Amino acid sequence: MKNLIYFALYYFIYKMFMSENMPKIYSLKSIKFQVEKGKKYYWCSCGLSANQPLCDGSHIGTEFAPLEYLSDADKIIGFCGCKHSKTAPLCDGAHNLLTPVDIK
Ligand code: FES
Repeated sequence: MKNLIYFALYYFIYKMFMSENMPKIYSLKSIKFQVEKGKKYYWCSCGLSANQPLCDGSHIGTEFAPLEYLSDADKIIGFCGCKHSKTAPLCDGAHNLLTPVDIK
């Protein structure tokens, strides 16, 4: 019962102060993506794009904007899929720290 009260309190505080400004979680893992040297990519930070992990303009009207990534080589990178990485647009493992409240 005590845990349920804590969870309800956490959820209430989260809904009041956090959820409006949080991106939509697209995936709970990184998105492997082939990039080409010298080419720019625009990573979706809002999670609403239908062209993940890249922006398709769905963020228009939100507070989010795409993040530019300039590739320094031909390689496969891991774009952040949960949209919570501190090293965006690249994955930093933040998806492992998300709680059930974050994943709605
Ligand atoms: S569609 Fe998500 S940042 Fe553009």
